[in-house]
This record gives sequence, C-alpha cells and structure tokens, in this order.
Amino acid sequence: MLQPNIIIIGSGIAGLSCALRIADHQPDWKIQIITKKTARTSNTRYAQGGIAAVMDTLNDTPEKHIQDTLLSGKGKCDENVVRYVVENAAACIHELIRYGVPFDRKPSGALSLGLEGGHSYPRILHVKDYTGFAIERVLLNQVKKRPNILMYTHIHAIELGVTNKQSDGVYALDTRNKSMVFLSSDAIVIATGGSGQVFEVTTNPTVSTGDGVAMACRAGAETKYMQYFQFHPTALYKSKGRQKFLISEAVRGYGAYLVNSRGERFMNRYDKRGELATRDIVSSAIFRELDMSGENSVFIDCRHLKYKEFSSQFPEIVATCLKYGYDVRKDLIPVVPAAHYQCGGISVDINGQTKIRGLYAIGECSYTGLHGTNRLASNSLLEALVFSATASEHILAHTKAQKHKKPDGLPHYHYISPISLTRYTLPLRRWMMESFRSLDDKERTQTYINRINEIEIQVRERFADGVFPALTELYNMLAVAHIILSEALNPKE
Ligand code: SIN
Repeated sequence: MLQPNIIIIGSGIAGLSCALRIADHQPDWKIQIITKKTARTSNTRYAQGGIAAVMDTLNDTPEKHIQDTLLSGKGKCDENVVRYVVENAAACIHELIRYGVPFDRKPSGALSLGLEGGHSYPRILHVKDYTGFAIERVLLNQVKKRPNILMYTHIHAIELGVTNKQSDGVYALDTRNKSMVFLSSDAIVIATGGSGQVFEVTTNPTVSTGDGVAMACRAGAETKYMQYFQFHPTALYKSKGRQKFLISEAVRGYGAYLVNSRGERFMNRYDKRGELATRDIVSSAIFRELDMSGENSVFIDCRHLKYKEFSSQFPEIVATCLKYGYDVRKDLIPVVPAAHYQCGGISVDINGQTKIRGLYAIGECSYTGLHGTNRLASNSLLEALVFSATASEHILAHTKAQKHKKPDGLPHYHYISPISLTRYTLPLRRWMMESFRSLDDKERTQTYINRINEIEIQVRERFADGVFPALTELYNMLAVAHIILSEALNPKE
C-alpha cells in the first residue's frame, strides 16, 4: 500500500522533533528532512539561554508564565495559544529528557532553573550556556535511529508546489550536484527558522534568510506581525563576521549589570525591573543611551560575580569573551542590540497549518499567536516543541498518500556559478537597520520599500540567467524585508 510521504524543510528543533513524532507513530511513513547546509546548521544550536517551562510546581504556576508571556507581548498575543503552549510545556520537556537532553541539575537532583528578562520566577531550563546545541545534538542522534527518517543535506528549497490550495511538493536546488530537483510529498512542514540576516547586525547564522516565509508567501500563504522583529540587547560588539556572538540574557539573570560608557547602571531609569525588563525595553534603552553618548556600545559588567561559579555556568561565553580580549573578571564586555528573533511569521492555526491544506509552519518561521509584539525570553524553543507536537498530530490524522506529479507553473531554472551579490545585500541590510528604528515614520518606511522594490526587480531579472543558492537567498531576504516594512506600514490586527 502507498504510504504517506512527509517533507520537513529545516533541521532545527522544530523540524527534528516533528519528524521524530511522526516517525514513532507511523513507522511505515517516509519522512524526509531537507536542509540547505549540513544537518547541524540551524539557529537552534545558537540558543544559549534555554527553554522556559513551569517545572517547579511548588513555587511557580502556569498562570504566572501565561501572565508574563501576555505582558511581554503587549496585548497582541492570542491568549488561547499562550495557555495552550504553557500548559503543554512540561510534557514536551519530559520528552526531551527521555530523548537524553542533559538539562543542568542542582546537587539535589532537581532541575536547575535560571531567570531571564520578563519572567517573574526562575523557570529557564538550560544546559550550561549551550542549551540549543545540546538539544540539537540529542535530537539528531534520535533521528539517526529512525530508519523511516531520511536526512537530505545541501538541498535548498526554493519554491513550494501547490495545486488547488493543496501542497504537493518542493522544488529545490541540489547544491552538491548543482542541479534542480522536484520532491513530491503528501504534507510539507516548513521549519526554516528566522530571517535575522536581513539586518546588518544580527545574532542569527548566515542560513537565517527567511526562505520559509518567502516561499510560503509566494505559494499563497499569509503572514502576520512580521514588523515585530526582536533585537537581543546584548550581542558582543566586536564579534567577527556576519553573526554576532550572543551574551545570553541568562547572564543578566545571573546578576550581571548593564552599564554605559560612564560606568553607570542605566536600566533603572527605563524600567523598574532594571536589567531584567523585557528585551524590547532593554534594547530600546540601550539605543537611547548610544544616541545620547555617541558611543558604539554599552557594557555588561560581570566583575562582581563569583568567577568560579559564573564560568562553570557560562563556559562558552567566558571563553569567547577571552578570545576577543575581554576577561570577565576585570573587563567590561562591550555589547550592542542585534536582530535576533522574528516574532511574526507565516500565519498558522492551532494545528500549525497554514491556509494551504497540507502545508504547515512551525518554529520561528511561523506566527502562532504566542509572542505578540515581543517574545518572552526562552519561549521560542518551547513554541517550536509544542507546535511540532500539535502539527505532527494533525499530520498523522489528516494525511493520505497520493500520487503527485510536478505541478504546472513551477519555474524551470538552471544552476549557474555564483557571483558576488554584495552590491545588493549591503544596502539592503543597512536600510533595514535604519528603517527598523523609525518604523512609525510612514513616509520613510515607504521610501525604503521603494528602494527594495527596485532591487527586487533587478534580482528577478537575474533569474533568467540561472540561479545559485546566494541568489535565491537574496531574493527571499528582499521578499521578507518587503513584508516587514509593508506590515509596519499597514499593520494587521
Ligand atoms: C539568550 O540566551 O539570551 C537567548 C535565548 C532566547 O532567545 O530566548
């Protein structure tokens, strides 16, 4: 009998955990994970802080987590979704523990729970300061044990095939063989992560180019709240390359201070929660301080913290700071806000399904209603887990095997050798950075949209000569930038 074939695009926490759930319930189904680089290349592995969940039920309550999430989202969260995610959190954490994720524990054996901005109680599960990396490693090992999950690396999805509002496959670049492929499927799960690479300064890896959002929109899905891009307040100012190294919020949760160039703690002037206000408030306070001082960065001050305990909790951060010449025992660490998390995304229902049948979106690329205008710290891995579970249940209940053919109307590209695209990417990222801080200025935002339109036209014309990965990524980044600015201009309720 013909068995359903599921394609999952992306190998971060959302894609891997969705694949595992489907594989375990239906060992005869074929689940293909496609990812544009290696299996390990994803945003998940850079999530330092952890996962928020109410595990200390003696002192914490789901209601407190719900209220913290609603407060952080500033009245724009969907309360039903917030309740659903928070109430399903503990079950997902237990599943991760069963898979083998080694969350830090106290000498008593109880989970060690950290504090982060906007949380009224310490509820962040972590594995030192490399939580995402540890989870990714465990999930990948689990995937390897399931013969019905096939991992295809270096397959770069570029268009979704949709016929009669039903998804039926993915058109992709095989970047090893330098060829085009069409992969048919009975359900598609987009789990491609975020789009921080649209901005000049970001904590996101180079793969975060918004491919899922752009492809889904071209296929007819909708987006919501894309204008709410979260800037993480504390990226290491001096990091090399396109991805800034993150100094986890958990460092401030642990007791580090933020100081300006005069050595003054300034956060209490902006919010009574001080350094542990929500990220939007801390980032905008830092931008204000920088505007006033004309300096390039503010600083994290860890000098008063007990080094032995601190370095055991944050080994990567301590080592990376040292690599850049900062000894946390005696130096102030220069930090700046950096584009970190796409709070909006592809609109999905409570099953993770878009308005196209058989097309799902989970994780950062999706908009579920959990985050509102500003995601609460460490709610993102949680959302990815809960929605991968709910989407997998829906897929298991509603997917039927069908015979597919390559849909009409998909473009026939050919693969060409890459050329430099910096003449487009540099201005795009600079404009997005400039426009982000003045999204309320409609005239200015429209000017940036017009500029992006002009580049989009030039880039689309290039497709006639052929495609290569960086070109399709640029095309997707332009589409995402366009959506971010257009939703700022005409907000959706
Ligand atoms: C952090 O550790 O500060 C980042 C985790 C998150 O984005 O929630």
